[in-house]
Amino acid sequence: MKDENFLKANNARSLWHPMTAPADSLKNAPTIVTGAHGVRIRDIDGHEVVDAVGGLWNVNLGYSCQPIKDAIAAQLDALPYYSIFRGTSNDKVIELAEDLRTFFAPDGLTRAFFTSGGSDSVETALRLARQYHKIRGEAGRTKFLSLKKGYHGTHMGGASVNGNANFRSAYEPLLPGCFHIPAPYTYRNPFNETDPVRLAQLCLQALEDEIGFQGAATIAAFIMEPVLGAGGVIPPHPSFMPGVEKLCRKHGILLIADEVITAFGRTGAWTGSRLWGVKPDFSCCAKAITNAYFPFGAVMIAEQVAEVFETDDTGKAAIGHGYTYSGHPVGAAAALVTLAETQRLKVNENAAARGAELHAGLLKLKEKHSAIGDVRGGHGLMHAVELVSDRATKSAPDKATPGKVQKAAYEAGAMIRVSGPNIILSPPLILTPADVQEIVKAVDAGLSAL
Ligand SMILES: Cc1ncc(COP(=O)(O)O)c(C=O)c1O
Repeated sequence: MKDENFLKANNARSLWHPMTAPADSLKNAPTIVTGAHGVRIRDIDGHEVVDAVGGLWNVNLGYSCQPIKDAIAAQLDALPYYSIFRGTSNDKVIELAEDLRTFFAPDGLTRAFFTSGGSDSVETALRLARQYHKIRGEAGRTKFLSLKKGYHGTHMGGASVNGNANFRSAYEPLLPGCFHIPAPYTYRNPFNETDPVRLAQLCLQALEDEIGFQGAATIAAFIMEPVLGAGGVIPPHPSFMPGVEKLCRKHGILLIADEVITAFGRTGAWTGSRLWGVKPDFSCCAKAITNAYFPFGAVMIAEQVAEVFETDDTGKAAIGHGYTYSGHPVGAAAALVTLAETQRLKVNENAAARGAELHAGLLKLKEKHSAIGDVRGGHGLMHAVELVSDRATKSAPDKATPGKVQKAAYEAGAMIRVSGPNIILSPPLILTPADVQEIVKAVDAGLSAL
């Protein structure tokens, strides 16, 4: 490894970081992480903190999961790569598809299409949704509906259904035929409605209105995250997603659950769809599927959708889509062991218990710090603290405020993430009660620095 001075001097000189301006990385040197164990990361100066971001909502089992590391190493020796395009397969991907089928059976999802990450999974689901309707003779169903504030990755299709201007404006024009519905975000919404039940109903009415306006026969699918993540952790009222499912069924629209964050226990349930008792037509997975140790993803497909593809004899069901790394054997080996460890450790139960503690801790901080406008969470380990400059008017904080909180929290013992006015927390699901208190203490210190 190059020495410390070399790394610090060249930190952002020859690389551009995702999700920030190159000039910003040059001006504000990113923290260089060089090691990790358990739920902790260590930087180049030897400062060690709890990773309250959990990598990027993906290191659910922490940084020291030896069985996954061993499986990856063994697979590199046995078969480091082989494609699963037409005519070939590999042993690990077959095994994995069977295990995923068992895991997702309660969601009604019985087939897997493998990808290299979340954006790939979203793109795959959008494409297969259009193809499904073409196979069935409804070629006019090409449009997509989604939620404002939703995040669905950065491919052109995903960005088009994305509900946040930050990820869209610079890349327009996007895919035509994508339309957005207000999110059930009680803190801010166009209806000025703070009651979650009434707001869910209003958003559902907006959805039905849009379906009527566009014409159901032109709409392929509705895509949503069971709990909105990157848009600021927005858990909908329990009536919302079942209401969406009902409208989709009524109008022949496919329901795509973007579970890139919520699958595998993060919400306290094994999947976000299961949390709300919904059976989607497609479920997009990635992130924690390999505990982040290998870039990998899967789209899980419902039985009734699979049947349409599998019984077609017209040739329309030939899938003209796939990635070089679809079904990568090293990723599949990692996912097999991750799934087994995820279930053995029952991390969903720990996510629910620790999530409740963290939520309570953040609500207490709201009593102390007037910079907190809203605390969101309450379903496993997904939390947001929305900062404001004035609680009464809910005005946005000064641009520098979230960064100040982050820096002081880091010095006090926790890596937290800031996104716009939000502090976002998504720690590993193996967190202990003591880790929770460390995170709360660090966030408290961060806010006290304002
Ligand atoms: C809900 C959701 N969908 C899709 C994506 C995109 O995944 P990736 O960054 O692996 O392409 C993300 C990433 O954060 C996500 O949170």
